[in-house]
Amino acid sequence: MAQQPESPPWWRDAAVYQVYPRSFADGDGDGVGDLAGIRARLPHLVELGVDAVWFNPWYPSPQKDGGYDISDYRAVDPALGTLDEAEKLIAEAAGLGLHTIVDIVPNHVSDRHPWFRAALAAPPGSPERERFHFRDGRGEHGELPPNNWRSEFGGRPWTRTADGQWYLHLFAAEQPDLNWDHPEVRAEHEAVLRFWFDRGAAGVRIDSAGLLVKDPALPDLAPDGPHPYVDRDELHQVYRSWRAVADSYHPPRALIGEVWVPDAERFARYLRPDELHTAFNFDFLARPWDAAQLRESIDSTLAAHAPVGAPATWVLANHDVTRTATRYGRADTRFDFAAKAFGIPTDPALGRRRARAAALLTLALPGSVYLYQGEELGLPEVEDLPLDRLRDPMHHRSGGTDPGRDGCRVPLPWSGTTPPYGFTGPGAATGEPWLPQPADWAALTVEAQTGDPDSVLELYRTALRLRRTRITGALRWRPAPEGVLAFDRGPGFTCLVNLSPRPVPIDIPGEHLLSSDALTDRHLPSDAALWLLRGARREPGERGRTVAAPMTKR
Ligand code: NOJ
Repeated sequence: MAQQPESPPWWRDAAVYQVYPRSFADGDGDGVGDLAGIRARLPHLVELGVDAVWFNPWYPSPQKDGGYDISDYRAVDPALGTLDEAEKLIAEAAGLGLHTIVDIVPNHVSDRHPWFRAALAAPPGSPERERFHFRDGRGEHGELPPNNWRSEFGGRPWTRTADGQWYLHLFAAEQPDLNWDHPEVRAEHEAVLRFWFDRGAAGVRIDSAGLLVKDPALPDLAPDGPHPYVDRDELHQVYRSWRAVADSYHPPRALIGEVWVPDAERFARYLRPDELHTAFNFDFLARPWDAAQLRESIDSTLAAHAPVGAPATWVLANHDVTRTATRYGRADTRFDFAAKAFGIPTDPALGRRRARAAALLTLALPGSVYLYQGEELGLPEVEDLPLDRLRDPMHHRSGGTDPGRDGCRVPLPWSGTTPPYGFTGPGAATGEPWLPQPADWAALTVEAQTGDPDSVLELYRTALRLRRTRITGALRWRPAPEGVLAFDRGPGFTCLVNLSPRPVPIDIPGEHLLSSDALTDRHLPSDAALWLLRGARREPGERGRTVAAPMTKR
């Protein structure tokens, strides 16, 4: 009997929705999102049309870095729920066809983690300290930090303990870095992977995946030579072992790396067939709203992935970066952590228009795509949070100059016309959301946008459905005027994106499936995108409104 061809694994072309649990939905009414809230709102994700959900860390944590300071990798923070609820959530999501991706944080632990507490309680040179990077300081009395490194959050990445030694933390002081040359550190993380895979997680997102291994000499940062902690060659052995763990499951589990490595070829090394399955494409996220720049990123991404056979990923936003609808409304539309500041002038209408067009561009590209909660509602960055409510160590460690990342983590608006916009579950006591929501979000709720064909939410719903049914095959560029991106996928699909300042004629005959903006006189306006089926009949009435095609096959 002829064998059925196997369908490609889900992670190759999945649309993955990122849930920041504290800000998604609050089931118990205390103002903090939780697993009960997420379980009640899973239908939103089904209706949206995504294939998988990635949860930011839900583990017990003192919350010194939004949950990325973990004190127990095998439990759920009591503020969010219980392990039993997490297991139920994973099972319920699977029942709805949604794969679950959990966040694994291997570079560092919380300073409240039992290993670090034991290390602080033990003397210098003790085995307990070897799981971390403890060193004597420089200077006559060891009063200077052991090297010249900088924390990713600003300031120095060393903190001195009561007995005079220093410990390394590439992020906040409450996030001591683990020593990945220690066999127990490696064994522990493989056990943690198994713990979550055994509970049904279909994959893991690996935090700070390029930073784990340090040069054991911890030398000063120098202009030449291999970096002492970024993208070290030894890292690949770690991920080969992890791949063996992931492959020992049926179906195999997926490894997704948070790898900030600008060199496309070095980046692709993590995606060799015996390492990670995919990794976030931050080059694409960081590029400005500029046709040549985006095309270059798309080309270099596809070229770097092809030799290793890995699918590309496309990301516009996440819980660390400025929301797209705000970033694209500024004069400088790149994303750069170093350029973040208070009070950057923004044109919100321009940002919204470009974010809609960018959504259609991104969803038409080959590979998997990540969608950060609230993008499907067109939420802007909240830039006027009271300073005393800001939690992010990036803000605090910058001396207050960096606004930090709280502005993209504000709880979602679901329904109603005033805060908390249904964020706290129906029937629950209405606690104040842990970060205040703006007073003008009534039109942005899921409820307000549902059924409105011009809303961002309906644009995403339609686009995600069409992506599943109409968009397959390799990308081929078409000739296009300056400032316009035009490409085909498969036999009949074409995506046009106009990033130029003037309308361009649409000279490709075909049915208009979907556009991010109203088309005028057979022209695609500036900052708009159009999906069309070549050769098919033009959809009548596309003028002056966004057009969604019927789902039936022609
Ligand atoms: C990357 C995470 O996305 C970010 O939120 C976190 O602060 C750092 N890694 C440290 O864990």
